[in-house]
Amino acid sequence: MTATVRPSHFQQRSDTVEDSDNSPNFVRISLMSLKTDFIVIGSGVAGLRASIELASTGARVSVLTKDKASESNTEYAQGGVAVVLSEDDNAELHEDDTLVAGAGLCDKRAVETLVTEGTGYIKQLIEWGTEFDREGGKLMMGQEAAHSRRRILHAHGDSTGAEFVRSLIARAGQEKAINLTPFANTEGLIVSDGRCVGVRFLDPILRAPREIYAKGVIMCTGGAGQLYLHTTNPPVATGDGMAMAYFAGAEMADMEFVQFHPTALSIENAPRFLLTEAMRGEGGQLKNKYGERFMPRYDERMELAPRDIVSRSIVAEMRRTGTRSVYLDMTAMDEEFLKHRFPKIYETCLAYGLNIAKDMLPVSPASHYCMGGIRTDLWGRSSVPGLYAAGEVTCTGVHGANRLASNSLLEGLVFGARAGKAAAEDSLKVRVSDVRSEASRLESINAEAGIATAVRKRIKRVMWERVGILRDRDSLKRALKEFTQIASGNLGTSSRNFVTLAQLVATAALWREESRGGHYRTDFPEQDEKWRVHSIQKLGEQIYGAGSISQN
Ligand code: FAD
Ligand code: SIN
Repeated sequence: MTATVRPSHFQQRSDTVEDSDNSPNFVRISLMSLKTDFIVIGSGVAGLRASIELASTGARVSVLTKDKASESNTEYAQGGVAVVLSEDDNAELHEDDTLVAGAGLCDKRAVETLVTEGTGYIKQLIEWGTEFDREGGKLMMGQEAAHSRRRILHAHGDSTGAEFVRSLIARAGQEKAINLTPFANTEGLIVSDGRCVGVRFLDPILRAPREIYAKGVIMCTGGAGQLYLHTTNPPVATGDGMAMAYFAGAEMADMEFVQFHPTALSIENAPRFLLTEAMRGEGGQLKNKYGERFMPRYDERMELAPRDIVSRSIVAEMRRTGTRSVYLDMTAMDEEFLKHRFPKIYETCLAYGLNIAKDMLPVSPASHYCMGGIRTDLWGRSSVPGLYAAGEVTCTGVHGANRLASNSLLEGLVFGARAGKAAAEDSLKVRVSDVRSEASRLESINAEAGIATAVRKRIKRVMWERVGILRDRDSLKRALKEFTQIASGNLGTSSRNFVTLAQLVATAALWREESRGGHYRTDFPEQDEKWRVHSIQKLGEQIYGAGSISQN
């Protein structure tokens, strides 16, 4: 399928700070402020929520973010946020659904925290001005795969994330103690005597590396969908925070578990635009090139089976029929309903020459979410003192081997706030350090300006072909060999971070000799009880298995 128009649905990046900062309430870091109380890296749901929490304790907070304040995975979230708010629902049901999706690897206490505290945080968000869709004044609840109740709140139909970002930026903008610097690409953490004391970033105004020191750093840099050739994630989602934490000595957990979303719009040479699961929740059907509905042959839950099953079924069907995509069919639904329920998708598809009410929509799976990340306790503490983390960059144990749809906006709120609280409480007696690391400064000066495009492209292709939806020992070994070769080259910091992350995912995928959740090994297709452990990786150590994520 080739369309004549190929717009990118992601926001266009501007090269200057001045013409693209869309958050006038925020003050940028002045050239003098090399010290602050806390540094938050990233301005998605987790980073914004953590910053607001920290500011409420009277602390000064510096938010460093790579692009515009609004550019993040959060901005593009479509389906909505899962929350227990309707009369026929309760926290136990939400917990059970999350545990089932997580395929035996969720941390029960983390899930309990999410589902019980989540409702309060959503109510608070509504008080702060977030507008979820309503019908006759009542909140509307959508349905998504593997949820036993309709519990997905959404905003402007399919622009839930943008509404989160709008309202959180507005709320954070009211806090005078929060300074946000857009276009501040953070490259590394500064560790002194085993404690994280600051960060190195590229100053967007000076266009030079700088260091900033604080009592604590909260990593909220989101996921790493961009590790793969095909992804629903925007260009900022390169997993930098995971690599930075790893190099700082933090433990990384469950890196092999990557979620592939089954239905990304599949148009040649265009970035993969997500067609939300809520479309299947409203009755959308998956068809092959012959117009046959194929999901009943693969799973009795059909289009609403868990994402990993739908993604693998699509791959099988594409192979069987010799095609590069299958089709999402929404044509049984009324055009006015679809326009109203999915306005952004309706518009974007029209720009590609497709009317969602009349045309079959070509779709194929794309990398979407990282279940693994920085291992934290229930308060966002990593294994490195002074380093906290929240949101998609973490592995809290909430998602296990597979994330339940629409649980991550909720996770960002709950665990962002918790990480902010813990960082403030833990640091009452901590003084801001200003040790200078000559080594790290030299390394930064030598760093490349961005990820070298050719290296990145090669890694993304290898990840897609060998560490993707289906993996086996041979493909993973070949991928690792290639990554070792790339890593032996003369790389700048960003490329080194990127290839290291690829190595972490491939190493964990090779280590886990079973199939579970988002990790599928064709040579070990069964789930195996003896592998009901978390993979842990730490710089300088061999990968090993641990019984639980949280150690407190
Ligand atoms: P992000 O929102 O990704 O924010 C990360 C921030 O870190 C960004 O501001 C980024 O610029 C910054 N950053 C990254 N690297 C650096 C660096 N080196 N230096 C400085 N800053 C850096 N989840 C749901 O619950 N419901 C949904 O409906 C839903 N739909 C989705 C649709 C799409 C298309 C995508 C891609 C994801 C969707 N998700 C959804 C997942 C969800 O959006 C994310 O998991 C969640 O928003 C992550 O929030 P976060 O704050 O952890 O990270
Ligand atoms: C979607 O809307 O399909 C994405 C929801 C999610 O990833 O949680």
